Parts: sequence; structure tokens; C-alpha cells
Amino acid sequence: MTYFIITGATGDLARTKLYPALAEMFSYGQYIGETQFIGAGRKPYTQEEYQQLVRDSLGIHDWKLDFIDNLHYIQLDFDTILTIQNFIRDYDIQKGDRIIWYMAIPPQAFGNIITTLSDIKQQYKDIEYTLVFEKPFGSDIISAKALNNQLAESFREEEIYRIDHYLGKETIQNILALRFGNTMFEPLLNNHYVESISINVWEERGINERAEYFDNTGIIKDILQNHILQTLALITMEAPVAMEAEYIRDEKHKILNSLRPIQSKDIILGQYISSGDKKSYLEETGVPTESKTETYIALTAYIDNLRWENTPIYISTGKRLSETKAEIRIKFKQSFNYFSHIDEGCNPQQNELVISIQPNEEVYYTVNAKFPGKGMCIQPVKLNFTYEESFGQRSQGAYTRLIQDIIEQDQSLFIRADEIEAAWNYVDALIQSNTIKERQLVFYEAGSNPNDIKLIQSMV
Ligand code: BG6
Repeated sequence: MTYFIITGATGDLARTKLYPALAEMFSYGQYIGETQFIGAGRKPYTQEEYQQLVRDSLGIHDWKLDFIDNLHYIQLDFDTILTIQNFIRDYDIQKGDRIIWYMAIPPQAFGNIITTLSDIKQQYKDIEYTLVFEKPFGSDIISAKALNNQLAESFREEEIYRIDHYLGKETIQNILALRFGNTMFEPLLNNHYVESISINVWEERGINERAEYFDNTGIIKDILQNHILQTLALITMEAPVAMEAEYIRDEKHKILNSLRPIQSKDIILGQYISSGDKKSYLEETGVPTESKTETYIALTAYIDNLRWENTPIYISTGKRLSETKAEIRIKFKQSFNYFSHIDEGCNPQQNELVISIQPNEEVYYTVNAKFPGKGMCIQPVKLNFTYEESFGQRSQGAYTRLIQDIIEQDQSLFIRADEIEAAWNYVDALIQSNTIKERQLVFYEAGSNPNDIKLIQSMV
């Protein structure tokens, strides 16, 4: 039997991401009876209260919710081994059974939990263990290394799953299919043909109720260190030996290690101010009045390797922008222009390959074509594919896929210790740049178009 323990069972992450993922899985009839899902937390909850909390968190969805009747709640305190021993005894967990510990809790608690679970592993050697960590894993290279070392004393890397939920998104996984399952793109993806790559992760939403977390984290550690660097690695890495976890992670690791240390001139840091009825960051509940935490960053990254040397990678990510959108845009160099036309609208444009991660799950390529009629008026047109049109469905949620993979012990979509450390090495150096150390913030109005934020900067 597998026991899937959600620690932090009443918290924001469990309510907004994990229960919807369970509901989606159970709607497809997966894992019923083979895996016992158990919510765990410090607070006392009766089974009924807990099940009601899960039901309430799924209120707006129309999935079948009868799986909730089989969800259990246990009160656990990781400061002491006793409550965990009681749980193992009460559930009669035996040799060969597996316990998955999913840490949907603040990262400050990770260290304590690892110590306690190491003791448990010593005592119950015949049980199988899986430890799942939500991001952020560490807050800099020193803390991430300390966690990795602490884990390595008692657990094997195969037992450790570090989550970056972006990797669970169908559109992110499709990057590998697109690059290595087609002959037509891969030969062009290098500095001979590509002029630049842009990775944009823009959000209309602010920080909601997460001031305490976000003010200590900022957008650099919340989104750039993980979601964006992982996306960047997938779009630029070399072909793996095989499509298997270790080989894919080897290649991502190489890219993260090849990122050129950033220069201050290549960074714009921003924080949103009020606009109309939209609050400023400083007015959000729980944000300290003088906070200098960044809610936006734009930077130009470079990869120092043969394939990508001197190709700029423009990264831009922020909260409270005019639109919610995540995308990768690969702009190809201009080819020799045979078709130059007096009318500007009739000239060929640079080809672009756009991988839209969300909200549109789509890939398109702009090519130049002749406008019908007399003369040679050339205009860009779109060759595209959307998930909905091609497969008749939108893709499943990222967490649904990740939970499935954890249960099935597939680590391809999880981050290895060395990758996490390479990402922190890059981000730690970035944080040491003057722009960031001195908090040279650009203030943008809530709801701004991210392209205008760059303009503000260029006018300063
Ligand atoms: C999380 C960040 O990891 O990703 C949030 O902590 C962000 O700040 C979220 O809003 C974005 O992910 P998604 O999948 O909801 O777009």
C-alpha cells in the first residue's frame, strides 16, 4: 500500500493546487484503492471538518467529489517522532509499504522535518520513503546545499522529489517533443540562425494573501530562480542521451552551469504602484511600508557555450501587469531580403517560433508569404497548432501530472540536487549586482504593459 501524506493539508497550496489535482485524478478513476491520501497538520481537525475544508476548496469545480469521503486527516508534529510512530502503528504500515511525504509547508520547516524523517527511516528500515519538496528549495546556495547535504545523509537521490510545477505543464514538456521529435527546428536553434530568445512570465494577479512569503522572496526567487531557469534550460539544452530523467537532468544542469554571470546594466528591477482602484505593492495587506522587494524583473541572460554564445535571452517576469501570459519567443535572424518593397507593410519579417505556455496552449511559427494579387507584397502568416484543436482537449493540470509521476516514481519532471545548486549559483551572483544590492527600483503602475516598463527605464 502507498500512503500519500500531504503535510500542510489546510494551507493555501494544498487548497488551491493539490486538492484540485486529486479531484482531476479521481475523476479519471486513477489510483483508487491503491493509494491512501492523508492530510496532515499541526492543528486538530475532525475527519468531517477536514473533508469539508477540501470540499470547500473545490467548490467551483464540477468534478466528482466522492473521493473526499476516503480522505483522512491526521494530526502530526514533526518536532517529535512520537506522532509519526503513532501514525505508522495506527495504519499498520508494514515492510514493503511506501510513505510519500509531500511538504506543502513553508521551507523554513524543511530542516526539522528531514531530521525527524531520518530518525523514522532508521527505525523502520523496511518501509519505502519518498520525500517531496515544494519550492523554494533553499533561499540561496548555502541553504540549498545545506538541505541537500542533510538529505543525502539519510536518503538516496531517487527518494527525493524537488518540485517546480512548471515542469508539470504539458506545454513545457512539449518543448522536448518539439525540439527533438522534429527534424525542422533543431538544426536552426543556435547562434547562427537565432537572433534572440525571449522568455516572458507575466501575471495580472498580485500577491494575494502571500505577503509574508513574497516580501521575503521577491520575484527573483519566486519565479526566476525556478520556473524561468528551468524553461530556459529546456529550450537551450543539448539532446539528452535518451528521454530519461537522469539524461534530461544532466543536460539541464550543463546549461545552468554555463549561464554567464550577469551585469548590472542588463537588469531592470521594478515594483508596482497604485493605479485607479488597483493597490500598490506597499498597500497590500502584510507588506512592510518601506519594502523594497521587487515585483518585476527584466534581464538579459547569455549562455557561454558553443551553441548559444552571444545570443541574448531576454527574460521578463512580474506581478500586476496588464496580462497573464507565459511564453517563449525565438526570433530568427533576417535572411537576405529579395523582396524589399516600398510599402513597409509588404516587407518580409523575421521568422519567429512562439511557444505559448499559458493561457493559450499553442505553438506557432511565423513565415513570410505572398499577399494575393499583383506584385510581390510579402507578409508574415502563422503556422500554428493548439492543444484544443489538435487533440480535442486542453491539457491536464501540472500538479495532476506531478502527483501521478511521484506515485509512479518517475523523476523526469523533478529537479536534481546539482540543478538546484547551479540555479542558486546564478541567482546568488545576480543578487550581488549593484542594481539589485542597491535596490534601484523602477516604479510601474499596477496593470502596466510590461513592454512599457522597459521603456520607462530607457528614458531614465
Ligand atoms: C508559483 C509562484 O510558483 O507560480 C506564484 O509562487 C506564481 O507567485 C505561480 O503566481 C504561477 O504559476 P501558475 O501555474 O499558476 O501560472
